[in-house]
Amino acid sequence: MIKVESLTKHRSGTPVLDGVTLAGEAGGVTALVGPSGSGKSTLLRCLNGLECFERGVVSIAGHRLTPGPHSGGVLEALRRDVGMVFQQFNLVPHLSVLDNVTLAPRTVLKNTVAEARSRAIELLDRVGLGSFAAARPATLSGGQQQRVAIARALAMQPQVMLFDEPTSALDPTMTAEVLEVIVDLAKAGQTMVVVTHDHGFAKRAATWVVELAAGKVARQGTAAEML
Ligand SMILES: Nc1ncnc2c1ncn2[C@@H]1O[C@H](COP(=O)(O)OP(=O)(O)O)[C@@H](O)[C@H]1O
Ligand SMILES: [Mg+2]
Repeated sequence: MIKVESLTKHRSGTPVLDGVTLAGEAGGVTALVGPSGSGKSTLLRCLNGLECFERGVVSIAGHRLTPGPHSGGVLEALRRDVGMVFQQFNLVPHLSVLDNVTLAPRTVLKNTVAEARSRAIELLDRVGLGSFAAARPATLSGGQQQRVAIARALAMQPQVMLFDEPTSALDPTMTAEVLEVIVDLAKAGQTMVVVTHDHGFAKRAATWVVELAAGKVARQGTAAEML
């Protein structure tokens, strides 16, 4: 489902990713660990085409990304199949929780309002927020907002979900709520890549752990081997 070969990316002449090679199988959960600045976010952003790169190949969910700028068509196709959840939720503030979740299915997948709505309510129930559909994001806790962001990404029924330190802006209680949702997704067989510093979570959820250091894969293995 995911194959990265010799991925190399520079910023201002310095390699940020330096020959990264890794693979993730369908239904697998890859935890991406490593110190701050090691290139984890950049790697994740390369996986969904948010960044371009100079060398190597990324294959993900049947799409292939090559060096240089990505065409609009490639990115549009990729975004349908690869969902991303950011540190800072990035919900649309003036839209209700429900409208945040239905927006992409309505505009990108051309779902009807009724289809998008019933699926969104199902997903909000799944993340424990069924009664918050009409609320504005700002009235929710950070943990609730992040669970809405997860529902929003799932609404596209992505083949792969990418999470960049999804709980780093949250207190321990909210962190636990969000990790529970991600562990449930893992159990349901969702293919995921999760950047995390939480080794306890990685042990519970990850089938494979990749450790980056200074833009290179320092080690990789099963959670039992690595953590
Ligand atoms: N927008 C940017 N411009 C220049 N350098 C950046 C930018 N974003 C990240 N970097 C640098 O790229 C390297 C990897 O960053 P990042 O992928 O964010 O690492 P991580 O997510 O592991 O903390 C770091 O040295 C960081 O300083
Ligand atoms: Mg980061």
